[in-house]
Amino acid sequence: MCGIVGYTGDSNATIPLLEGLARLEYRGYDSAGISILADGKITTAKRAGKLAVLVAALKEKSLPNGQVGIGHTRWATHGSPIDRNAHPHLDPDGKVALIHNGIIENYHSLKVALENQGHDFSSDTDSEVVAHLLGAEYSRVNDLTAAMEKVCKQLQGNFSLVAIAVDSPGTLVGARRNSPLVVGLGDGANFLASDVAAFISFTRRALEIGQNQIVTLTASSYSITNFDGEAQNAREFEVTWDASAAEKNGFPHFMAKEIMEQPKALADCLLGRIDEKGQLALNEVRVSDDELRDIEKIIIIGCGSAFHAGMIAKYGIEHWSRIPVEVELASEFRYRDPIITRNTLVLAISQSGETMDTLMALRHAKEQRAKVISICNTHGASIPRESDGVVYTQAGPEIAVASTKAFLTQIVAAYLVGLYLAQVRGIKFVDEVRDILEELDEMPTKIERYLETSERLKELAEEFQSAQSILFLGRHVGYPVALEGALKLKELAYMHAEGFAAGELKHGPIALIEEGTPVLVVMPSPHSPLHDKMLSNVQEIQARGARAIIIASESDLAIADPRAIRIPDAPVLFQPLLAVLPLQLFAYESAVIRGYDVDQPRNLAKSVTVE
Ligand code: G6P
Repeated sequence: MCGIVGYTGDSNATIPLLEGLARLEYRGYDSAGISILADGKITTAKRAGKLAVLVAALKEKSLPNGQVGIGHTRWATHGSPIDRNAHPHLDPDGKVALIHNGIIENYHSLKVALENQGHDFSSDTDSEVVAHLLGAEYSRVNDLTAAMEKVCKQLQGNFSLVAIAVDSPGTLVGARRNSPLVVGLGDGANFLASDVAAFISFTRRALEIGQNQIVTLTASSYSITNFDGEAQNAREFEVTWDASAAEKNGFPHFMAKEIMEQPKALADCLLGRIDEKGQLALNEVRVSDDELRDIEKIIIIGCGSAFHAGMIAKYGIEHWSRIPVEVELASEFRYRDPIITRNTLVLAISQSGETMDTLMALRHAKEQRAKVISICNTHGASIPRESDGVVYTQAGPEIAVASTKAFLTQIVAAYLVGLYLAQVRGIKFVDEVRDILEELDEMPTKIERYLETSERLKELAEEFQSAQSILFLGRHVGYPVALEGALKLKELAYMHAEGFAAGELKHGPIALIEEGTPVLVVMPSPHSPLHDKMLSNVQEIQARGARAIIIASESDLAIADPRAIRIPDAPVLFQPLLAVLPLQLFAYESAVIRGYDVDQPRNLAKSVTVE
């Protein structure tokens, strides 16, 4: 995690750096700092707390007007979030300043060796060790790029690094291994950042930096080498969205905006999926139809909401393609020695494309010769780059830590893979696939219709604001929806919440029900054979005093309760795309009522680039 940004150009660097940090705060927000190179000197300001604390400090005492600088927003790994652990870190002579995203696994032995040479450290971080190493190499070779090469070869772990040095005015040197780093190519100014969002208001031209590469950047030039100093090529690309897509556009929070953007995100996700022959086409899948015909098993991996999206997708993929699907937490996957062959398809789901657990699981799958297709929202991120193929979710930037529009589009993108497999393997005729796609095409309008009438969730959040614990129940595709509803409430409102498969209730969780326990129930569609079983489950909990709030389809006449939350009717497999909406809104409103930071909940980060 952590967001890093560097600027070299012709303006006062503090301004673009602060703007970049504001857009990267989703990556971590427990402290922030900036170093500016001006008049042959590096000046640094850093503060624990959100970026606003640093901004206030800079209003009191501004940094010098220099045209090159680096900035960092932190999610602590080594060392608590206090001023001295914030980045940038300097070498002992103050000649080199460095920012880091990732974890240096061998930092302890490197630190001990430096201490034996007389180095004193002013922080508890692994990153300061790199700053000291870089400073020492730089004073030996007097070339920041060559020094960076030498240092990177000594590091174990994951890193993206950006450094400046007093004797290299106008130059930024960055390096990456397993953590993201992109170059922004502007007019009279260039950028280095964790994510294109950092420089999107200045330029849409970007360059991918590959694994184990170093980039040396000035305001008008760049060069890329590997850790052995050999020249490397880079791929330039154009960012397809603009700064307004990453702004709140009048909404009080990014999450509110992203919830309301879901109809459009879903419609965009479905765009361009039919070819001129009227067949479902997934252009960037890059696994041949022959190889897809040989697939014997699918394993879906992901973390957090992406994992829940995978759990839902399993129902659709198995139903349409008749291929068995396992769904596994990416962080558990490679440690259980999973059975993988060249006929296994691994579907890696990740909004950011940088989640380290998912990336490592993907690599493990590739080592075992599985085919890997990723479902991702971020172009050029590590996960799609390292996959055989990718289906982009096309949801636009998601800034709020809690995933909403990415979650919905992940389900749909994974469904598209299931339908594509069914089409390629001849299990479904092209017109059958098209009929299903037509039903999917109706979902954005249904989602919009629900979101227009969603006021009631605020009242519900008020009613339950002092509840000790809230339970969520679902069955079949509604079960992962219940898990997602509970996750959202935990991460945003810091309330105890649990999701259960309703059929499992009688085997233990029902003991939690007491007089007044709030339970949100995702009722299966009236067309589902599980509908009546769920009705019995509701009676069982109500008989024990639960306050059940039922989320039911509009046409579900078996639910007479006037308090029920009604969602538009939808085919069984598409119902989660609607049923999750009230749960997102409930968590959102619960956090707002409590006065919590909806977009940046405590202890979390959007992109978790550590294992
Ligand atoms: C973090 C976020 C979650 C997200 C998960 C996976 O934990 O807080 O909202 O679902 O990472 O992220 P990914 O980018 O891989 O989808």
